[in-house]
Formats: sequence, C-alpha cells, structure tokens
Amino acid sequence: MLNTTDLQKEILRLKHEKGVCILAHAYETHDIIEIADYVGDSFGLSKQAKDAKENTILMCGVRFMAETVKILSPEKKVILSHPDAGCPMAEQLSVDELKRLKKDLPNAKVVAYINTTAALKCECDMCVTSASAVELMKSLDSDEVLFIPDPNLGSFVKKAVPNKKYHFINGGCPVHMGISYEDVANAKAKHPNAKLLVHPECKKEVTQCADYVGSTTGIMGYVKNIDENEFIIGTENSIVEHLKFEYPDKKFYPLSKKCICSDMKLTTLVDVYNCLLGIGGEEIVLDEYTLKNARRAIDNMLN
Ligand code: 13P
Ligand code: SF4
Repeated sequence: MLNTTDLQKEILRLKHEKGVCILAHAYETHDIIEIADYVGDSFGLSKQAKDAKENTILMCGVRFMAETVKILSPEKKVILSHPDAGCPMAEQLSVDELKRLKKDLPNAKVVAYINTTAALKCECDMCVTSASAVELMKSLDSDEVLFIPDPNLGSFVKKAVPNKKYHFINGGCPVHMGISYEDVANAKAKHPNAKLLVHPECKKEVTQCADYVGSTTGIMGYVKNIDENEFIIGTENSIVEHLKFEYPDKKFYPLSKKCICSDMKLTTLVDVYNCLLGIGGEEIVLDEYTLKNARRAIDNMLN
C-alpha cells in the first residue's frame, strides 16, 4: 500500500513522463494542491488553461471548470478528475429557460457567471468570474443585464456597479448560501479581533458584514497583504486549511463548519493517480457548435 508521500512522488513522476499539466481549484484538498502545477480561482485557472504548453490537462475541480479548459484549448486532451464532480449551481438554469428569459428581455445582455454549463455559455454574451465580475461589468456596453445564475454574486456586482438595470434568477450556491447572519454574529462574538473575509456567493446579510469580499484567490491575497493575525473565513473550508499551511503563525477560523463543497471533495489523490494511469476520470468531449459558441463568451471575459 502506498502512503500519501509515495503516491505524490509517483504522481509527479507520471505527470512528467506523460507530459500532463495538473490544474487544481483552491477548494481541492491539500494533498492535491501540493502536486498541482497551478492552483487558483476560476479566473486564474481559465488563464492558465489557455497558456499551458502540455498536450494533456488534468482538471482537479468540477465539470464546468474542465469544460472551460476544453473550450479554451480544443486541441488538447482534457480530463476531469472525477466524473461525478459537478457544480449544482451550474445546472440550475436550463438552455430552454434561458432562451425564454432572453425573449422577454430583448435589450438585456446576458452575463454568465463561469459556474454555468458549456451549453448555457453558448447563449450568453460574456462570462465573468468572482474575481473579474465587477471590473467586467463596468466595461460592459449595455445598460440592461440578465445576470445568471447566481443572484448573490449578481447583487454584489450591482452594489459596485449600480448604474445598470439588472435581472436575476432564483438560485445560488447551496454551499455558500448555508452561511447565515447568525454564523457571522457567533464568529464575531468568539473572535472579536479577527477580520471577516467572505466569498461573493454568500448571501447579502453575510457579505455586508465583511471586511473583504472576493474570490478564493482574492481572500488568500488579502491575508498575504495585510498585517493582521486573525481571520474568519467565509468560503469553502479548504481555504482555511491551505491558509493554515501557508501562515502557521496566524489564526484562521471557518465562518461555518458546514461550508464544505462535496463535489470539490469527490476527487482524491488516488483518483489523480488513476487519471495519470489512464484508468480514471473522464475525458471532456464537446461538439463543434458548443466549442465555437461557448468560446465567444469566455473570450469576451479574457480579452
Ligand atoms: P472562485 O472563482 O473564487 O474560484 O469560485 C469558484 C467557486 O465555485 C466558488 O464556489
Ligand atoms: Fe458550485 Fe458552490 Fe461547489 Fe463552488 S462551492 S463548486 S459554486 S457548489
């Protein structure tokens, strides 16, 4: 039986031998983060996918992230680390429902959070990520926006860029929406000197109490750049673990013990190993129509 360190060494050997680039979202477990070529938020992963020189990319994350990699690099072999790793929010709106909404709102540009299926992206004007949404919205050449699917990120953007008419749908991330104002009050009472850093997928009652609202990479960057020692982290709890490794002298507390994304946690180090052996994961295959039309919305974000 291999232990964690042996398995990591074997993964690194196979990765070099087979010319595979491993991308990992920051919500993956720490043993996976350690063997990845690049770790980041959705925006960073998209950019990295475009620039990777290897012909095979193994995406340790959820399906929409692997689809984004394939759309940006259709000539490459893209493998999703676990076939069942999806994002419930990405599937909250169907293509037919979106087409109906577009008919009712003919003047609105459709802005999609990157947490959407490739099929939905085909119907959108521009993608955004949590890290890029505010800046991109400022430069959008439309006064009316249909923002899908996350109304919480949408409201956060609306507050920062209020001079547009916004339309939202019902939905959101079930993991982040589980965090309540009560969690904030409890955490602040327990750790009165800690800074509160949260993801914009949290509800307004949570984001409006925060010292900083930003993407996963944004939260980690905030910790790096500020001279403070205690932080309450309002996003998936892997970030708490990674921050503890990076800054062992500082204190990090989860805002909610329940903030765990079971989809991001599906991939194990053994799955990564099996993917490299060619006996695990799922190769992402998208048809020509989807590759061409979903790319427009992603390019509009990256350009
Ligand atoms: P980031 O863009 O911050 O990586 O967020 C992705 C995500 O799925 C958060 O739940
Ligand atoms: Fe989707 Fe939420 Fe999990 Fe992010 S944390 S992948 S938005 S379910």
